[in-house]
Amino acid sequence: MILVTGATGQFGSKAIDHLLNKGVRPAEISALVRDVANAADLKSKGVEVKVGDYTDYDSLVKAFQGVEKLLLVSSNDRQAVENRTAQHINVIKAAKAANVKHLVYTSFVRKANFEDSAIAAFQHSHGATEACLIASGLDYTILQNCIYLEMIPVFAGEKVAETGTILFPAAEGKASYVLREELAEAAAHVLTTEGHEQQIYSLTNSTSVSFTEIAKAIADHLGKEVNYQSLTVEQFEAKMKAFGVPDLYIGMFSMWATAQAQGTMDVVDDTLERFLGRKPTTMSRFIAQVY
Ligand SMILES: NC(=O)c1ccc[n+]([C@@H]2O[C@H](COP(=O)([O-])OP(=O)(O)OC[C@H]3O[C@@H](n4cnc5c(N)ncnc54)[C@H](OP(=O)(O)O)[C@@H]3O)[C@@H](O)[C@H]2O)c1
Repeated sequence: MILVTGATGQFGSKAIDHLLNKGVRPAEISALVRDVANAADLKSKGVEVKVGDYTDYDSLVKAFQGVEKLLLVSSNDRQAVENRTAQHINVIKAAKAANVKHLVYTSFVRKANFEDSAIAAFQHSHGATEACLIASGLDYTILQNCIYLEMIPVFAGEKVAETGTILFPAAEGKASYVLREELAEAAAHVLTTEGHEQQIYSLTNSTSVSFTEIAKAIADHLGKEVNYQSLTVEQFEAKMKAFGVPDLYIGMFSMWATAQAQGTMDVVDDTLERFLGRKPTTMSRFIAQVY
């Protein structure tokens, strides 16, 4: 039995679809959900739905009975990043208690000297989860996923086609944006093939891209001019405030832009290409699909 957590979320639901596409029988898959009301689609696929919460250890131990392999989709808790660490550790301890054999964890790509990066808090949370998993005695596979391509329209703004302007303080920093769907496919590959025990994989695209290149790709696709302006973080935040963007979002945009300016996500590795058996979707192909 393979159990996928976060199964009503985007990554987990796609991972289950890829397990089914790879020929795993629905009866061999179970899905951990918080709210069964959101699981009608999973049930219609014949997947067993189990209810559990990362904050409720007992619910996890119960849900993990009879599970051999477990895909832990990292938490999206927005209150405090430390909450995520505690939740992940709960899942790892519960998996151990329930005699799960192999746990696959969706981590985030990491470079040396990440302590100096704008996303160090996230990196520390993933690092602490990885350390707990490695020490757990479970077989483990750590998927150090790079940033989703799907974040580009969020960062570039929904109205870039109308405004012809991208405001984002990422300077000329590059990141190896990768399609969430393909990371989910890679997770399904790891769960259905041999030899991934005690492995840590960097899953990235084949090239890293800057926002200058992203703006050019959008311009080429739309056939109109698109200007990328990398303001200072202070100028960017003042502009966003004037546009009425909530502080929470302004902080998030500045953090990811600064991390990109610092090159924190500028990692290129061919593991994802090998797992997919093809080149990952490029930034320009993604742009052509969404704009
Ligand atoms: N690489 C990147 O660029 C990137 C970008 C964004 C996020 N991430 C990380 O990757 C994860 C997966 O991405 P995604 O796009 O699938 O995010 P998502 O759609 O927000 O899914 C997150 C899933 O985690 C579940 N979850 C959160 N807290 C939980 C808890 N206490 N107990 C049980 N389940 C819980 C959610 O359950 P519900 O369905 O009940 O809400 C949801 O199914 C995110 O959670 C985040 O850690 C990575």
